[in-house]
Amino acid sequence: MYRTNTCGELRLTNLDKKTTLAGWVQKARKFGGMIFVDLRDRYGITQLVFNQETNAALCEQAAKLGREWLIQVHGIVAERSNKNPNLPTGDIEIIVSELQILNPAETPPFTIEDESDGGDDLRMKYRYLDLRRNPVRANLELRHAMAFATRSYLNEQKFMEIETPVLVSSTPEGARDFVVPSRLHEGQFYALPQSPQLFKQLLMVSGFDRYFQIVKCFRDEDLRADRQPEFTQIDCEMSFVEQEDILNIFEGLTKYLFKTIKGIDIPDLPRMSYADAMRLYGSDKPDTRFGMQFVEIKDLTEGKGFGVFDSAEYVAAISAEGCAGYTRKQLDELTEFVKRQQIGAKGLIYVRYEADGSIKSSVDKFYTPEELKTWLDRANAQPGDLLLILCGETEKTQKQLCELRLEIGSRLGLRDKNQFNCLWVVDFPLLEFDEELNRYFAKHHPFTSPKIEDSPLLDTNPGAVRANAYDMVINGVEVGGGSIRIFNSELQQKMFTTLGFTKEQAQAQFGFLMNAFKYGAPPHGGIAFGLDRLVSIFAGLDSIRDCIAFPKNNAGRDVMIDAPSAIAPEQLKELHLKLE
Ligand code: AMO
Repeated sequence: MYRTNTCGELRLTNLDKKTTLAGWVQKARKFGGMIFVDLRDRYGITQLVFNQETNAALCEQAAKLGREWLIQVHGIVAERSNKNPNLPTGDIEIIVSELQILNPAETPPFTIEDESDGGDDLRMKYRYLDLRRNPVRANLELRHAMAFATRSYLNEQKFMEIETPVLVSSTPEGARDFVVPSRLHEGQFYALPQSPQLFKQLLMVSGFDRYFQIVKCFRDEDLRADRQPEFTQIDCEMSFVEQEDILNIFEGLTKYLFKTIKGIDIPDLPRMSYADAMRLYGSDKPDTRFGMQFVEIKDLTEGKGFGVFDSAEYVAAISAEGCAGYTRKQLDELTEFVKRQQIGAKGLIYVRYEADGSIKSSVDKFYTPEELKTWLDRANAQPGDLLLILCGETEKTQKQLCELRLEIGSRLGLRDKNQFNCLWVVDFPLLEFDEELNRYFAKHHPFTSPKIEDSPLLDTNPGAVRANAYDMVINGVEVGGGSIRIFNSELQQKMFTTLGFTKEQAQAQFGFLMNAFKYGAPPHGGIAFGLDRLVSIFAGLDSIRDCIAFPKNNAGRDVMIDAPSAIAPEQLKELHLKLE
C-alpha cells in the first residue's frame, strides 16, 4: 500500500497512529540533529521529522532529499512542540522510521510555492509543475466543484446531457472557424464547433425537451483576458418555453452555484434593457458594483461658444465621488488614459466641485459657475466630487466613457472581487449594421427570434427590431447569453434574406435546419454560460487562463506541447494540402 493517509489529513486525534504517507518534498531543512521535511500532496502538507540521535542512517538518507523528490515514509503521528496555526495539519508531525525514495527529481525551474518566482512563459512551459502549486490547484478544484454542481442542478431539473459532434461544417456567421482538412474528401474541410447551437436546436425537434452539455467550443478570435480559442460552455436548450422560463431556470442555476460553492445568497437578478445599459453605462455588460452612471448634458452645454461641445453629437459626464482634490498630475494621467489608442478620445474635460462649494473647470472660459452647476446637479454631484466629461459621436463616446468609468471605479477601489453583482441584460437589438460590408449581421446569431411586436419592422426598419435575447452579466463580465429561437421555417428563411443570404445560399448552409422545422419543431430557446468566465469570477481571477488546466498563451500557443506546429510533408500530401 503506497499510503494509509494523505498529507492533509492527520490531526491530534490521530496521535501515536502508525501511518504511511507518499508525496513530494516541498522543503527540507536541518535544525541541529534533526531534519524537517514538508511533504506535500494534493490534500495538503505534513511535517516529517528525522532524528539523528535515534536513527542516524535514516537521517543521512533524508539529508539527500531535494525539492520535489517523490518519497514514501512510514512513521508515527506525534504532537508538535512548535505548532503551526497556518497549516491544518500544523499540530502534528510524523516521526519517520522508514524512508523510500520513489522518484528523485531535478531541481524545478521555478519554486513550487503559492508565490512562485517563475514568469508566465516558464510556468506555462512546465504547466504540469505549475499545477502543483496550491493556488492553481485550488482553481481547478473550484472548476470541478462548479461543473459538478451544475450537472447536479440541471439533472434535478430534468435536463439530459447529450454529446454533439466536434467535427462539423464551417458556417459564415459568427467568429472565424478552426478548420480540419479531410483526408478522405479532397479539398473539403470540417470545422470545429463555435458552439453546439444547431445541434441543440435539432435535439429540440427530436423531442428531448431539456438538453445540456458541458462542452468545448472553438473560436479563432484575437485573445483577451476573458477569451481563449478553446473554451468551455455550459450549453443548454429547452422546449415549450418563453424567455421568462429560461431566465427563471438559469437565474436558479446561478443562485444555486453561489449558494453551494460560496455560501452566498444572491438576490433576484435585476433586469436592464440593452438600451438602458448603453445609455447609463456605455456597455452591454455593465459593472453594477458601483454607480457613477452616465448623464447626458448636451442640452446644457449648447450655444455658449464652446465649439467642441457644440459640434458633438453627444456630451456626457460621470461624477467621480470625492475626487475634486485630484492633482493636475492625476488629471493629466486620466487625460492620457482616455487618449490612448485603444480608447481614442480626443480629450477630457473636468469640473471640480470643491468641498467649499466653489466650482472650477477646464472650460471656465465658456461657462459661468451657475451654468456648470446645472451640469453638476444633473449628475447629482456633491461638494468634493469631480465631473468628468467626454464628447463626440454617440456610440464611440459611450464606449470611451465606459472605459473611463471602469478606470475610476478601479482607482477608487469600487470593483471589489468579493462582491458579486449579477443582472440580466434583455431586449438586445436583433441586428447590427456593418458599415464596411454594408449589410446587417445578427447581433446574437441568425436563429434568434425577433420580438413579435417588432416583427413588422423587419421589412421597414430592421435595425430597430428587438430580439428575444438576453445576457447574464456579473461584475461587468458577460458570463452567459442566449435567446428564444425561430422555430418556423418561413421566418428563418426571412431572417436569412434580411442577412443578405440568397435563397440558394441559405438552403446550402442551413437547409437541414429549415427542413427540420417542417417536421413539427416545438417552440424553444436556450442559453450558454462560459464556464471559464464563471469560474474565474468565483475565484476572483484576472484571466480565465488561470482556471484552465492547459491554456493557450496570449499568442494562442500551447508552449508546453508546442502547438500549433508544422506537419510532415507526407501528412500534408495525404490531406491534399500544399503550402505556398
Ligand atoms: P455566445 O457566443 O454568447 O452564445 O457564447 C456564450 C458564452 O460563452 C462564453 N464565451 C467565451 N468564453 C471564453 N472564451 C471565448 N472565446 C468565449 N466566447 C464566448 C461567454 C458567452 O456569454 N450558441 C450561443 C448560446 C445560445 O444562444 O444558447 C452562444 O454560443 O461567457
